[in-house]
Amino acid sequence: MNHVLEVKNVCKFFQLGKTKMFGEQILLKAVNDVSFKLYEGETLGIIGESGCGKSTLGRCIVNLYNTTSGQIFYNEPKGEINLTQASERVRQYHRRNIQIIFQDPFASLNPRINIFETIAEPLIVNGFRKEEINQRVAEIIEEVGLRKEHLRRFPHSFSGGQRQRIGIARALVVGPKIVICDEAVSALDVSVQAQIINLLKKLQEKNKFTYIFISHDMSVINHICDRIAVMYAGKIVEIGEKKDVLKYPKHPYTEALIGAIPKLTNRKNKIKRKSLAGEPPDLTSNMGGCYLFDRCSYKSSECKEMLNELLNTEISNHKSSCIKRNEVELTGL
Ligand SMILES: Nc1ncnc2c1ncn2[C@@H]1O[C@H](COP(=O)(O)OP(=O)(O)OP(=O)(O)O)[C@@H](O)[C@H]1O
Ligand SMILES: [Mg+2]
Repeated sequence: MNHVLEVKNVCKFFQLGKTKMFGEQILLKAVNDVSFKLYEGETLGIIGESGCGKSTLGRCIVNLYNTTSGQIFYNEPKGEINLTQASERVRQYHRRNIQIIFQDPFASLNPRINIFETIAEPLIVNGFRKEEINQRVAEIIEEVGLRKEHLRRFPHSFSGGQRQRIGIARALVVGPKIVICDEAVSALDVSVQAQIINLLKKLQEKNKFTYIFISHDMSVINHICDRIAVMYAGKIVEIGEKKDVLKYPKHPYTEALIGAIPKLTNRKNKIKRKSLAGEPPDLTSNMGGCYLFDRCSYKSSECKEMLNELLNTEISNHKSSCIKRNEVELTGL
């Protein structure tokens, strides 16, 4: 299958100021050497606990943040474009192809402009003609399940679910290829979540979108995704087909995430789940070895030195950065 995007060794470090003692810069490593390919038409879920860098990674991909290092390639039929090195004009052009839907539908809509203007704004920025703007806005509002008369209203007069539909319309109106949904349903109640997920799936089938679906909720990820990438402390610690990752988690952190969902740990699923104690690491410190070391029940002295590089495992394309867990499980220790 063709990939539409490649993220290669991407880092995003935030400068937090200087230390009092020696005046050195304090760097927060929000995304730390992340690499993956995104395949055409798939939904890749990115999961991990709060603060692990999911949104920062999404923002780097849509060019809301400049990366500290690494490269992001957008693949189109004519060839690959290195978005991290392209000129601002080229980046602006391709920004259309990669759009983002945010978590909070209210905060992401300007309360002072009506829904027509809200949805039309990205088209105006991208230089569309007036007739095309009118036509596209009229089409998309119905595609997301709202009506044309809603276009004259302002954001405050909509429910949370409707506001998220407006957010979706705004992201999709320019005709992107890749859509990043950053906790797009997390602020909604469960029944509205299901409606929005079904809408996103329907739009994907119709328009052949490729999705990156960021969430901290494994049940939502389980419902919508084809592949799953698990992030921990700014790194991807495991990536693979959904069924492989959920059934045969290779990393202790993934195992703990799955263990937290009762529905996914029924009797058929025989792996004994282990939960994690402790707190995520401080992303401003210079850690060596495995970032999960202090919290992991499989740890050994080797892990202290081990780098978090993804290793190939016996299931094709299922990669994990843990060297110990499977060894321990296989030898029954
Ligand atoms: N603009 C910024 N300046 C400084 N630090 C930041 C900035 N944006 C994010 N961070 C830090 O980077 C880390 C990753 O944040 P990010 O928002 O990407 O996490 P997340 O995985 O999306 O979390 P959540 O699930 O809560 O949305 C956090 O420690 C956060 O405090
Ligand atoms: Mg986030």
